[in-house]
Amino acid sequence: MSFTIPEETTSRLNRSELAVPGSNPVLFEKAAASKADVIFLDLEDAVAPDDKEQARKNVIEAINDIDWGNKTLSVRVNGLDTPYMYRDVIDVLEQAGDRLDLFMIPKVGTAADIYALDMLCTQVETAKGRKKAVGFEMIIETALGMQNINEIAAASKRNESLHFGVADYAASTKARTTGIGGPNPMYGVLTDVDGDSPRDFHWGDMWHYAIARMVVAARANGLRAIDGPFGDFSDPEGYRAQANRATILGCEGKWAIHPNQIGIANEVNSPSEAEVNKANRILEAMEQAQREGKGAVSLDGRLIDIASIRQASVMVEKAKEIALADAASET
Ligand code: GLV
Ligand code: MG
Repeated sequence: MSFTIPEETTSRLNRSELAVPGSNPVLFEKAAASKADVIFLDLEDAVAPDDKEQARKNVIEAINDIDWGNKTLSVRVNGLDTPYMYRDVIDVLEQAGDRLDLFMIPKVGTAADIYALDMLCTQVETAKGRKKAVGFEMIIETALGMQNINEIAAASKRNESLHFGVADYAASTKARTTGIGGPNPMYGVLTDVDGDSPRDFHWGDMWHYAIARMVVAARANGLRAIDGPFGDFSDPEGYRAQANRATILGCEGKWAIHPNQIGIANEVNSPSEAEVNKANRILEAMEQAQREGKGAVSLDGRLIDIASIRQASVMVEKAKEIALADAASET
């Protein structure tokens, strides 16, 4: 290990993160009763300009009045380039109680954006004597944000997670796509000509770089990496596939833009029983190896070594965290 060890952010389950428009209060109670780990009440893109003020009032009332159980509760404020953001932050922090956990900050472009918001939150929290400092989840969804991602991730002690906002990212980078978060059938490679054999077209994942880049910046700064929306909520298998590939790269959760995506996100982002059993066997085998003074041994015909302990421990710790959260939500 390096002498520099990233400090891990507040630990929270973030397997699924449900988006709920602040202008639609009939959805709030349902969201509170859902299985989502995190809920964000949206004041940004799901709310039309004429509804911004009412949505802000709805959200404040909902934070104060609804029983959100053991969920993490977040509010997506408007962007720093709008005339709404300062009032989102001030009104919500001044009027909503300590139940609020996080602000979600859209279209973050530079570390200075986070610095400015940190300053504003600190002033309001100090003036109002709020006990709990609100944390930040930041959406990386512009070319500028992706370029400055390392500095953004390191910009504040409040930072908890980076999110990949695929829809705005596509718009910002002028990507040739109009769907939200799915693959693009044009993005792929054709196998070489080989006599008369038919050639295969292999689809690629046009978001691979962005997600992998975000995972590195998040983990190097002790933050969670979360994959953003998948727009086609009538395609559960498509959603599952996109969630799986982000999780495999190191994301630990995915947005749900519809309640029917929550269960899939929770499942994909929870290690399976078979994975946990395998991880426990690796840990046992390595304990035995260490007692015998060995650094590497074989298990089921494959090499395992001290790095395997770290991978297996991540899996086992995650499973424990989920079991604890499940137990807490059942009591
Ligand atoms: C989320 O905000 C997105 O733009 O994908
Ligand atoms: Mg967006």
